[in-house]
Parts: sequence; C-alpha cells; structure tokens
Amino acid sequence: SKGAALVTAVAQRLASRKRQVDETLSSFRLSQEQLKLVKARMRAGLEAGLKTKGPSAIKMLPSFVYHTPDGTEHGKYLALDLGGTNFRAMLVNFKKGLQQNARLYHKIYTIPLEIMQGTGEELFDHLAQCVSDFLDYMGMKNARLPAGFTFSFPCEQTAIDTGTLVSWTKGFKATDCEGHDVVSMLREAIKRRNEFDLDIAAVVNDTVGTMMSCAYEDPQCEIGMIAGTGTNVCYMEEVKNIEKAVQKKGKTEEDKGTPDEEQDKADAEMLKMCINTEWGGLGDDGSLDDIITPYDTEVDQNSVNPGKQRFEKLTSGMYLGEVVRQVLLDLTRGGLLFRGHVTETLKTPGIFQTKYLSQIESDRLALLQIRSILQQLGLNSNCDDSIIVKEVCGAVSRRAAQLCGAGMAAVVDKIRENRGLDHLNITVGVDGALYKLHPRFSGVLKETVKIMAPQCNVTFLPSEEGSGKGAALITAVARKKQEM
Ligand code: GLC
Repeated sequence: SKGAALVTAVAQRLASRKRQVDETLSSFRLSQEQLKLVKARMRAGLEAGLKTKGPSAIKMLPSFVYHTPDGTEHGKYLALDLGGTNFRAMLVNFKKGLQQNARLYHKIYTIPLEIMQGTGEELFDHLAQCVSDFLDYMGMKNARLPAGFTFSFPCEQTAIDTGTLVSWTKGFKATDCEGHDVVSMLREAIKRRNEFDLDIAAVVNDTVGTMMSCAYEDPQCEIGMIAGTGTNVCYMEEVKNIEKAVQKKGKTEEDKGTPDEEQDKADAEMLKMCINTEWGGLGDDGSLDDIITPYDTEVDQNSVNPGKQRFEKLTSGMYLGEVVRQVLLDLTRGGLLFRGHVTETLKTPGIFQTKYLSQIESDRLALLQIRSILQQLGLNSNCDDSIIVKEVCGAVSRRAAQLCGAGMAAVVDKIRENRGLDHLNITVGVDGALYKLHPRFSGVLKETVKIMAPQCNVTFLPSEEGSGKGAALITAVARKKQEM
C-alpha cells in the first residue's frame, strides 16, 4: 500500500542519515593502535623536551620545585591565580602540624576580553588593581604578605621567583608579555600604583599548584593535571634526567666555596624536580597530523594561535565546543541536521561552552531538555536533531578523554621506568571543569589509563582550590628556605 511504502521510505531515509552521521563521526573514533601511537609520541615528546635547550613541541619546563609538601608549612600567604578566564586572590593560612588548612577568604575577578587581548601593561595594571581591591577587602594593605603567583601559561624559569612567558595560550594575546618575566611585570604594576607592597616569592604553573595541594593530603601524589579551559600535566622528574637543567646548573662561583659535605647534602635534597610538561603542545611538529580531522584544522585556523597547542585543541574545554560546532555546521550543510538551515547562531564562534557540552551529555537529561538547551542557543531542533547533537558531543569528548588517557599513560610509565619498577602506585592531583563537571570525561580518562598503562595503578584525586593553595605552599617553602 501507499502508506507502507511511505513508512519504508522514511525508515530508509533515517537509516541513511544515521549512516552518514556515523561516517562523519568515525574520524573521531580512535583505535587501540592509534592510542598506542599517541602514547608513544607523547613519550618521545617528553624525552625530547628534557634534552633540548632549543624549542621542542613539548616544552618540559623546570619549575624549581624540588619537593612535595612535608606538612611543616605554616603561616599566612597570599595566593594570586591567573588562569583561563579569571583572576583569583586568596589568603591561605597554614597551621603548624595540622594537615588541614584554613582558607580564610578569596575573591574572583573576571578578566575582560579587551584586557586579555590588550597591552601587557594594561593586563598587569588590572591584576594589581584586583590585588589592591582584595587587600582593601581584607583590611591588609600594610601587611606586606609573602605571595605566590599562579600563572597558568608556559614560563621558562631559572629560579622559583622568575618566569619568562614563552607564549600565550588559551586565547590570551596581551602584547609585550612574551619574552618578559611575569613576576617583574607584576612587581612593576604594583610599584606604579604606589599604594601597597607585596613580596612575590614564587611563580607557579596551575598544574604544579594542583600537584602540591593534593600532595599535602596524599604523599603518593607526584603528578598534577589540569583538564579545563586548557590541558596540561606536571610530574616529579629525576634531576639527572633533566639534561638542560643539569647543564644550566654547573658550578657557580659561590658553589666553589661550599664544603663538599654541605654540597652533597644540598644535592641529595634536589634529586627530583617538578617539570611542567606543557603537553598541550604535542603535535605542533606535525606528529598528530594523522588523527587531526578537517574540523580540528578549522578550529586551529580560527584560533588566536594557529599551529600551536594542537593536542590542547583536541582535548580542552576552550576548543571542544568549537570542534562540535564545526561538525554540526558540516552536518547541517549536508542536510543531515536542523533541516539543512545554517543559521547565524551556528556560525557564531564560542556558542558551545563546555558547560553546555556537559549538560547535553548528561544521561539524566531527556531529549526534550537537550532540545530546550539548543533552543536557548537559538538552534531549532527536532527530536532526531537532538539525538545527533548528543552523538557529536559524545564522540568529541570521548576522543578528548582518550587522548589525555594515552598521554597520562606515557607519563606514568616514564615515572615507573625512572624508578626501575615493575609496578607503580601513583596519585594524580587533578583540577579543571572538564574533569570535574563533564559526565563522562573522567571515566573514559581513567579507563584509558588503565588499558594503556597496565603496570601502573593510577588514582585521580580532585583538588579543592588546588592551584592557589599549592602556590601558597610553594611560597611557604621558599620563604622557609630564606629564613634558614
Ligand atoms: C595551557 C597553558 C598551561 C596550563 C594549562 C591549563 O595549556 O599553556 O600552562 O597549565 O593551559 O590551565
């Protein structure tokens, strides 16, 4: 009958639509073999970065943090944290002997886009103004507190309290900062205000801060990870493996005077150093070209730093929504979605923030609710559309988690081999909205690490206020050293 023929035709059309969507998404599905390759490339990248002094895709930046905390840290410290989109000021109080700290107060300041992308002086003046506001709020303008500065961008360090910005990432592009010491820039901005004084004792990457704050609770924590706006990992590496740092160290004039015994003691205390890998740069030398899809290329080309942070662009919150949007655009142009209507909304960069991805993928959400989210974003969908959108989000976020898992497998296996162990137990301190808020990311990450690094037992420990607290801990250690 006519009716039956119509039903069959509709069913066929649906099946063919599903096939085409599936085909599009297949480029995001990674086989075990591909993940093994990613692990191997990450490993090679880590090794290369430790060796070369010159530029390498994975920068492997020495942090000058030699220890995880030992619990004797005490006192009041200011923690300043410039992360992805905001700046936080925090006062941390560590009480002696208590494995528990009191975070007294903190305040969050958003960084307006025009400041993220204006001049360096404007950016640092803005930070100084935020600090001024916080000190007013706390009534501590005259305290000259020791401060730790969490600066979540790649910095070349030669000491705990200097860091030259190598290159901006995550959408920042303030001028006249790259190649400059960010601690000096903050000090100068504070001096320009001429109303308060600050003793900036340490500059710290957010991964390092996260590791330190988690290690305060779990001594097995020797890795820090951020899966948020950006993605990055730090870990404790043997100093003897950090060829570029060993070269730099050499014997200075001062060293020559110290007795051997003291020198030995100092050396023994500095057997390990935390390395900020900046693993988001994997692939910047083309090593990921075989897994990068045309959608990823589009996202890269539209970013403020094309060709840079290729791994980060496959795995972090700032970019996943953009990858999803590119796929949706393509499916819509192919008539497979939104009745083929490419709307202005769909053409708008940045509409799919990570929080929407997290919501869309939540299983507690009925399809109707997905439709209402899409509606809010100005996208008119029917039921099939919302199923497809959810599938796209799932494919993109799953790939992200698997890639991070493969990368983490490389890191833990390296640590295991460093120690000549058959089996390693280790904890990763972790922070970031993608890890904490996305319904599937953390699960897939853990599952992948388990499969890709079977000789390691890896525990993930989410940090609370991690990077700021960690910076305060590092500051405490830095100032303790000075007192000695
Ligand atoms: C970017 C930065 C890195 C930071 C990470 C997470 O990858 O380059 O320094 O740790 O984002 O915030």
